[in-house]
Amino acid sequence: MCGIVAVTARREVSEILLEGLRRLEYRGYDSSGMALIDNEKRLLLHKQLGKVAELEKAQAMSPHYGCVGIAHTRWATHGKPSAANAHPHTSSDRIALVHNGIIENHASLRKQLAEQGYVFYSQTDTEVIVHLLHSKLEQGLSLSDALRETVAQLEGAYALAAVDKESPDEVVAARAGSPLVVGVGIGENFLASDQLALRQVTDRFIFLEEGDLVRMTAMTLEIWDQSGNVVERPRRDVAEAVESVDLGQFEHYMLKEIYEQPKALADTFKIADETELSDERFGAEAAAVFDQVKSVQIVACGTSFHAGLVARYWLEELAGIPCEVEVASEFRYRKRAPQPGTLLVTVSQSGETADSLAALRGQKDGEFIASLVIANVDHSSLVRESDLVFLTRAGAEVGVASTKAFTTQLVAFLMLTLLLGRRHGMSEQDQDKITDALHALPSHVEQTLALDASIKKLSEHFIQKQHALFLGRGIQYPIAMEGALKLKEISYIHAEAYPAGELKHGPLALVDADMPVVAVAPGDELLEKLKSNLEEVRSRGGELYVFADKKAGFVDEPLLHVLQMPSCPEMLKPVIYTVALQLLAYHVAVQKGTDVDKPRNLAKSVTVE
Ligand code: G6P
Repeated sequence: MCGIVAVTARREVSEILLEGLRRLEYRGYDSSGMALIDNEKRLLLHKQLGKVAELEKAQAMSPHYGCVGIAHTRWATHGKPSAANAHPHTSSDRIALVHNGIIENHASLRKQLAEQGYVFYSQTDTEVIVHLLHSKLEQGLSLSDALRETVAQLEGAYALAAVDKESPDEVVAARAGSPLVVGVGIGENFLASDQLALRQVTDRFIFLEEGDLVRMTAMTLEIWDQSGNVVERPRRDVAEAVESVDLGQFEHYMLKEIYEQPKALADTFKIADETELSDERFGAEAAAVFDQVKSVQIVACGTSFHAGLVARYWLEELAGIPCEVEVASEFRYRKRAPQPGTLLVTVSQSGETADSLAALRGQKDGEFIASLVIANVDHSSLVRESDLVFLTRAGAEVGVASTKAFTTQLVAFLMLTLLLGRRHGMSEQDQDKITDALHALPSHVEQTLALDASIKKLSEHFIQKQHALFLGRGIQYPIAMEGALKLKEISYIHAEAYPAGELKHGPLALVDADMPVVAVAPGDELLEKLKSNLEEVRSRGGELYVFADKKAGFVDEPLLHVLQMPSCPEMLKPVIYTVALQLLAYHVAVQKGTDVDKPRNLAKSVTVE
């Protein structure tokens, strides 16, 4: 989604804004822009179609300098990607405003404002906000009061920041439904959609609450809550080292993040010298909540949803706990009838996904015994609003296609399975099996990464293809889904996943020499059935790419390409097969020349519905 950065300082801030945008580029990148107020109180604007690099070029060609500014990277919702639709939007060459979210009543506001004589230069919903703000300023209100009256008329979701050349030292901002964090500096203050954007300038943050409104100058910071009362929000000092956003030796963030998995998985499982897996990892109240859990409802989007699908197998098979999994955008609008004693689990890398957040907020009184979030970003909205929290320790994930966040979510779910399983009769022996497997996981992933060159070779077969089919059975079916999602996200090859048993009920009709079929065949008890499914493909001229355990007994033959996977404990197979499929998608995309880290039309953090 769109990313916002704002600064008010006593030094020149254009480079801080640009660096913030570079760090937020993962959120959206079809256009970007920045507005600065210079020493002569002029409002200076750059807006460019394309990536932040285009904005940097514009700034280099015609530099704008100032101590107060706002900037934005856009992911189009209303109005196609263009310089005119890029933010900041301005009104009467006086105010500039940036926005993340969607204003649902923009059409009626636009009509009213047009009747008042405002001329619209873009197709965005955002432009109504800046003209509305201007109309309030015309009534003689201060900038912050004008913003308060403006947001009172908005329906929908927003995080926004504005500057006014008549109040050249201040930035005002507000949030409802979209994230916004204040960065506190020394003699300067900052705002951004994600603290990551500001880590180069501060490690002190104030996470704004729903409905908060902010006025900041270089030296002052005021926050009002949604009722208009002045409030003090807690300041949090982020202790961890600044997350590296450098690529290091890698060509793309996605590859770097794939290779970071052994460490991310180890960090997620084990903090310091902890060897005993304890409830407290999920929060102080976790033990009391877990004692009451009779079933689990998992809700998530995208890749995180796939983690939930894998978890269902573990929770039901290993812990004997009934589990439902649903995409958040469906769950939130459905009349539900959960069993008594159900724990609501949301899963989200960013902790900000609008549908997942709405699912959490939309629970009815008494519907669930408690809520747990598995998230990768501390202080994110889902983390702040859930009863229990498990933080994965994947580190910042920049590539839009989620890799290490997904596999660390699987670790979190294995840990949850063990903790709930203990209460549902899981034997000590089975508990030890899970703990041992988790300890061994990083080295199994290392062994899988060692197959990189062979997977790259395999990937050459896919470059000219338009479509691909992914097959799996049992717990490997969600892994096939995740493999297909990775391939379609970054290589734009149409890829679908099927449970292998469904093949003959439809997708078999598509199989021919142009339809590569990828199968995950770990060699478990469903192997023989999977083998018959694969024969169905081969006998119709379909070319098979099988990721298989040695035990599965596959060898290369005409129309059959086998990638021999390392042996590992059964419960770890979903993780290592995922890593192999991540590498497959990555190499196909690189050879096709697509933008691996920032695939077209997609955004990393989807904070609108
Ligand atoms: C977007 C991203 C996906 C991600 C999904 C859910 O679609 O492109 O990679 O899986 O959002 O995001 P979350 O932050 O909730 O895990």
